[in-house]
Amino acid sequence: LITEVRLRRILDSRGNPTVEADVTTESGGFGRAAAPSGASTGEYEAIELPAEEAIANARELAVPRLEGQVYAGDQRSVDFVLREADGTDDFSEIGANSAVAISMAAAKAAADMLGAPLYQHLGGAFRGDEFPTPLGNVIGGGEHAADATDIQEFLAAPVGAPSVADAVFANAAVHGAARDVLADRGEAAAKGDEGAWAPSIDDAEAFDVMEEAVSRVEEEVGFEIRFGLDVAAAEMFEDGSYVYSDTERSPDEQVEYVADLVDEYDLAYVEDPLDEDDYEGFAALTERVGENCLVCGDDLFVTNVERLETGIEEGAANSILVKPNQIGTLSDAFDAIELARDNGYDAVVSHRSGETEDTTIAHLAVATAAPFIKTGAVGGERTAKLNELIRIEENA
Ligand code: PGA
Ligand code: ZN
Repeated sequence: LITEVRLRRILDSRGNPTVEADVTTESGGFGRAAAPSGASTGEYEAIELPAEEAIANARELAVPRLEGQVYAGDQRSVDFVLREADGTDDFSEIGANSAVAISMAAAKAAADMLGAPLYQHLGGAFRGDEFPTPLGNVIGGGEHAADATDIQEFLAAPVGAPSVADAVFANAAVHGAARDVLADRGEAAAKGDEGAWAPSIDDAEAFDVMEEAVSRVEEEVGFEIRFGLDVAAAEMFEDGSYVYSDTERSPDEQVEYVADLVDEYDLAYVEDPLDEDDYEGFAALTERVGENCLVCGDDLFVTNVERLETGIEEGAANSILVKPNQIGTLSDAFDAIELARDNGYDAVVSHRSGETEDTTIAHLAVATAAPFIKTGAVGGERTAKLNELIRIEENA
């Protein structure tokens, strides 16, 4: 039984306040988790309130309904109570940041009570032994860095890595090689919010740099490294067209453009290639390139079962990005993953651009046998998850 839920403001990686929750149980279980925060947030995401407000409202409305009333191990009940206490569809009353911190902290308290690692508690006894391949953010711009690429993320995808640890080190090596390639070209680069290099180059040059960096590391490690993109196209969609630094593209041209990129660079993964309302465009692109490439909906689906149902009906995308804070609870995230699975969609687990040292998503990705996890390549709040994956792999 949950005996105490404590909420506090802590720092995230951008230096903003975010919500951390501590959940304690009668039998001595303890769980702590923190909410991440997006910058290129989808229009249909659950609502993140200012941390102070989210905490005050959750203390008033949710905490009294949890303490002494709900079992931490009964995740569905914890999450049901959070929804009831909030009373809205989008957690605009207690904040999705308070909700997700409490939901994840309860899961950790339950795992602690059982003496099991979190991935074991979440994944159960019949989990299997598949591990996610980390997608490493190497070069980026968009909403994550000023004066950099239009495409938000250029991601290394070490699909041939024999282990998670090899993949983690390969991504860091590609990140390092990209810095060298940029230096060779006289491009000094700062880092964006997720630790990716944010040089003042255009997308075409970023593709060159990625190809060069990836092939250097491939030679070193001897396994296949592909790469992928998060276009975050909703952020560049204005008045019916996609606005790039040097050109504009109509929705049809955008489908063609991305399809050509997938072919030319043999991309393994393309996220949000079109606007978050363009199911049709997603379907057209999936039809063209879906055989060899994951076409993933982030802002399109926002971890929301109803939006995923629409996508499935229309054949839009073949994979969904899962960010628990986009929907507010672990139960909702699991529902989205289950619906995806049942319909042949891959569920990729992801961090946010604003992160903490919290490692819940590493466990979530292992528990649900996600094919990929997006959690950056370098930087403490990113390596917290990557290093946790290495530990999980060693112990599983
Ligand atoms: P965000 O970016 O966390 O700023 O939304 C990550 C993404 O778009 O995948
Ligand atoms: Zn995205």
